[in-house]
Amino acid sequence: MLLGPPGAGKGTQAEAFTARQDVPHVSTGDILRDAVARRTEEGLKAQRLMEQGELVPDSLVASMVEARLRERDCDGGFVLDGFPRNVEQAEMLESILGRTGRTLASVVAIEVPEEEVVVRLGGRRVCGSCGRNFHVRFQPPRVEGRCDGCGGALVVRKDDTPDVIRERLAVYQRQTEPLLRLYGERSLLRRVSGAGNPEEVAERILRSVDMV
Ligand code: AP5
Ligand code: MG
Repeated sequence: MLLGPPGAGKGTQAEAFTARQDVPHVSTGDILRDAVARRTEEGLKAQRLMEQGELVPDSLVASMVEARLRERDCDGGFVLDGFPRNVEQAEMLESILGRTGRTLASVVAIEVPEEEVVVRLGGRRVCGSCGRNFHVRFQPPRVEGRCDGCGGALVVRKDDTPDVIRERLAVYQRQTEPLLRLYGERSLLRRVSGAGNPEEVAERILRSVDMV
């Protein structure tokens, strides 16, 4: 599981890890954005809350996570990104793992100072077609405005505006940060500095989970 504030690099690191380990990246943000784009019932419930930087209801996210973890490609492991987001969801995850016969191997908290996450989110661009992440300064695409992978147009995520970034950080501090203590007490937590380039952070993560 990857924990960390908005913009810490959870998505970037999950992609790097899953490419190396050949396990799926299970991101509740990505699942919800896909539901919004497809205008499903869950997506319609989530859209306004996501655009305001608020959490969507726990039960809605939990049932999406359970369905995802039941898929066969999660049998050999997975990287969880964006769930749980509060203590209630952490309890829901325990039940889901019990019902699906999965266990939590480790929780990696990516630590990045608030000033840095604001810069990272402010310059983030995402591919409108495949969802890949870029940054105008730190991870620029080869061709401006175009995805390196699929050539799709790069867009600004709707919740990457200054007001919504501020709200997301406040929600993180209020609701998600308490999980660090919870997983620390269960001896699952590894704290990793998110400073430096993505390759350096990836190396630290692998070392923290004894994979190099
Ligand atoms: P979600 O999609 O989970 O967003 P988040 O937690 O706010 O995190 P981000 O995706 O913004 O950041 P990230 O840590 O993945 O960073 P990234 O790798 O992109 O959730 C969105 C919304 O969905 C929530 O607000 C909520 O409404 C809803 N939601 C989701 N899960 C929920 C749940 N469980 N319960 C209820 N509601 C839920 O990197 C950011 C930028 O920095 C990129 O541009 C990247 O290129 C760049 N970058 C990355 N690493 C580095 C580096 N080392 N150096 C320089 N730049 C870097
Ligand atoms: Mg993300």
